[in-house]
This record gives sequence, C-alpha cells and structure tokens, in this order.
Amino acid sequence: MSSPGSAGRFVTFEGIDGAGKSSHLDALASWLRRRGHEVVVTREPGGTPLAEALREIVLHRPMDALSEALLVFAARRDHLCRVIEPALARGATVLCDRFTDATFAYQGAGRGFDLGQLATLERWVQQGREPDLTLWFDLDAATAAARRGAARAPDRFEAEGLAFFERVRAGYAARAAAARFVRLDASRTPAEVWQQIESVVSARGWW
Ligand code: TYD
Repeated sequence: MSSPGSAGRFVTFEGIDGAGKSSHLDALASWLRRRGHEVVVTREPGGTPLAEALREIVLHRPMDALSEALLVFAARRDHLCRVIEPALARGATVLCDRFTDATFAYQGAGRGFDLGQLATLERWVQQGREPDLTLWFDLDAATAAARRGAARAPDRFEAEGLAFFERVRAGYAARAAAARFVRLDASRTPAEVWQQIESVVSARGWW
C-alpha cells in the first residue's frame, strides 16, 4: 500500500500479555530515530484522548464480547483518523502496540466472538488500511503468566486463566499466514529477540 519515500510504514506489535513486546517497541523506535526517521509510538486500545477513555472502560468494566469489539473498533476509528493516517501521510513510521490482530485473537479466539462479524467491522473501520509489518511475539501461556507475575493489579484480560491465553495464542497463529506477519520466538532472551527484530526490519529494506 505504501512505498518508500512517499508514505510511511505501519508496524504493529502483537502477542499475549507478558510476551515482552513493549520494551522492544521502544528499542525499535530508537533504532529508527538513530537513522533519522520520524517515528510515532502509539498503542491500542488508545492513542487519542477518546480512545484512551475507551481503553479504561474496556480494560476495567464488565461487558460482553460484542461490547468489547464495538468499543475497541470505536477507539481504533478515532486513532486511525487522528493519529495513524495523518502520520503515514506525512511519511512517518508508526509503531503501534497492538492493532486489529489483537481483536481477532482476544475477542475472536479468546472470547469466542464471530470472526466474520469482526472482519465486517474491520472493513468498515479501516477502509483498507492494514499494517505493513506485524511482529508477533509468540510465547506459551504459562511462561507469559510467570513473566507477568503479580507486579500490579490485573485488568480484565490479565485476570484470565491459562486456557484463555492459549486460545488467544492460537488466534494469533491463525492470523500468521498473512505475508505481513512475522513470528518471533519470545521465549528467547531479550537480546536474542532484539536480534530477530533487527534482522527482520533490516531485511525489509524500508529504512
Ligand atoms: P496491553 O497492550 O497488554 O497493555 P499493557 O502492557 O499496558 O497491559 O493491554 C491491552 C489489553 O487489551 C490486552 O490485554 C489485550 C486487550 N485488547 C483486546 O482485547 N482487543 C483489542 O483489540 C486490543 C487492541 C487489545
């Protein structure tokens, strides 16, 4: 969709809670900035005042899977219109902590919500916009839970059990056939995971 020099690249970071994507997102932002690129770091649900308000609701108020799906797509719509599309149009690289693959994995595979209805919402909200590259931090649910530990009060998703996160992981695996999707072995050390990322982004030749 985008080409070098004309429009920016849209890179998303995915994986179950505890897979370790957030620190690598910051590292990739620094790597790109050192090469002189404008980088926008953002997250979902969130990234705008409205979407951050919706995030608080989705993460902490009880609701059914359809309500979750509608709220994350409402947040996504605002985020796309106000942040992601303008950044890509001016040539910036957008690094986004989660995007629509998380909806398919969490609301679809995790909660059992209808994937066809999610695909309809995706088309409606995104109008063809897709990530150019998705880094999937793949880790088994037990190791991820141990990494999350008990450092803070869990939100509605983090409070789910191993079976939920194994379904979410399988949901990501089901998305991984897309050419934009790259699986990273997140069970490796942080330095090894970073090496995987550096070789993937270097091989793309975009920056
Ligand atoms: P996360 O990205 O893990 O942030 P933090 O590192 O601050 O915990 O938390 C966001 C949660 O929202 C995560 O548990 C997955 C969930 N989520 C969905 O269920 N659907 C979605 O579409 C998105 C984007 C996130």
